[in-house]
Amino acid sequence: MDFAVLGLGDSSYTKFNFVAKKLHRRLLQLGGSALLPVCLGDDQHELGPDAAIDPWLQDLWEKVLGPHSVPLNLDLSPPGVPWPSRFTLQFLTDTPSSGPEELCVAGTDPQGPPSELQPFLAPMVSNQRVTGPSHFQDVRLIEFDISGSGISFSAGDVVLIQPENTASHVQQFCQALGLDPEQHFTLQPREPGVACPARLPQPCSMHCLVSQYLDIASVPRRSFFELLACLSPHELEREKLREFGSARGQEELCEYCTRPRRTALEVLCDFPHTAAAVPPDYLLDLVPLIRPRAFSIASSLRAHPSRLQILVAVVQYQTRLREPRRGLCSSWLASLDPAQGPVRVPLWVRSGGLTFPKTPGVPVIMVGPGTGVAPFRAAIQERVAQGETENVLFFGCRRQDQDFFWEAEWKQLQARGCLTLVTAFSREQEQKVYVQHRLRAFGPLVWELLEGRGAHFYLAGNAKYMPADVSNTLLSIFREEGGLSGPDAATYLAQLQRTLRFQTETWA
Ligand code: 2AM
Repeated sequence: MDFAVLGLGDSSYTKFNFVAKKLHRRLLQLGGSALLPVCLGDDQHELGPDAAIDPWLQDLWEKVLGPHSVPLNLDLSPPGVPWPSRFTLQFLTDTPSSGPEELCVAGTDPQGPPSELQPFLAPMVSNQRVTGPSHFQDVRLIEFDISGSGISFSAGDVVLIQPENTASHVQQFCQALGLDPEQHFTLQPREPGVACPARLPQPCSMHCLVSQYLDIASVPRRSFFELLACLSPHELEREKLREFGSARGQEELCEYCTRPRRTALEVLCDFPHTAAAVPPDYLLDLVPLIRPRAFSIASSLRAHPSRLQILVAVVQYQTRLREPRRGLCSSWLASLDPAQGPVRVPLWVRSGGLTFPKTPGVPVIMVGPGTGVAPFRAAIQERVAQGETENVLFFGCRRQDQDFFWEAEWKQLQARGCLTLVTAFSREQEQKVYVQHRLRAFGPLVWELLEGRGAHFYLAGNAKYMPADVSNTLLSIFREEGGLSGPDAATYLAQLQRTLRFQTETWA
């Protein structure tokens, strides 16, 4: 049998395209004949998986069709939309004066705690900037009241937050597409296998759909351009959109859209004739749904009953576009001010990114630079409440007076003998000092706790190279303090990982 395997993967995972590689090997073993080498689509590639898929497909068609003298490069797509929308929107003639706009409030749900299907609308209690005025980044400590929600969590758990679009973006989007925000509709899937978005009220207003469901501030993918090209009534715009949707236009699309992080809304504004002609039925095919964002919970119910705290770095950066790029969820959260009136945020909890020892008397070593310290604050609070005093925390930040989160709290715990705190202030001297440098200096203690006391080791944070740097430092500690050979040190680390005594939670 002739075969060809195409894999969709992400090279930031250690087992990149594992399934495709294995399937390819196995088919060969079984006597199959490979038409082409296995294709390894990579989501990390600047042009997305298509960078590998396009040339591979080209080769595949040549292999498959060539012998049958079928001409290649036939443009088979007729003008107009080649496929029906997944949904139909039925507009209501009477606009309900107060439709079921709001997300449902959980707590009365007999089926269990809040979830993606039924988030809890948590009152925001406080939203406080915790970085100094001269620090480059706005980091917020945000507290929610979860009384009566049925939510419970322990250290290492994660809260999911469902953000919404900025009011001005919603308005621009509706304007560009000629949508009336007040117009109400019901949504029906065209086919039985297609489900309406979870929680979408029926009937729903256009404003609700655009502000809470459509991710208009995300960077669109190639399929967005392909569909827009089909929907476009304007020749010039259609040509450009077709180009962006085609295999040969991918470098140009990347330059226009992916590299500068241009949003779907901005693209639509660049193609006004097309935007104005998008049939509402296609909205959900065109724009992806807003995904919930996960944050490490930074507080323990034992220290803050009925409360849930998170530490949020507000994402904002510049590209060659004039408007700064902003993270949807962090910017939305930062914009909410409970001092100006009640604020509610849809959220639910998911258990255990990190799990801490259940057995009493096991020491923990935690490495959490920047906002990576968040889950460890929850863990330390929880452990101290349980009488566990062997907590070692390596914390790193730029400057003691700018981004040293919870300094006073740590000092107090140190004074009570419940915490060993080791700090690395990276920008207070000529040479950078990072957590891994401090970890190395404390090598004898780290080895003694791991090998002699069965300690658990945790690592969290968002610095790009930090996780690998810390792992390498651990390996050097195992070699130099533990006297292990290079391969034995690696085995030792792998063993810690397997037995969940070395856990990491990292984010980009
Ligand atoms: P820097 O910004 O001065 O380079 C929290 O973000 C802290 O992590 C900062 O002090 C930051 O230092 C530091 N950091 C940056 N890259 C790192 C790395 N590879 N390993 C450890 N810490 C790092």
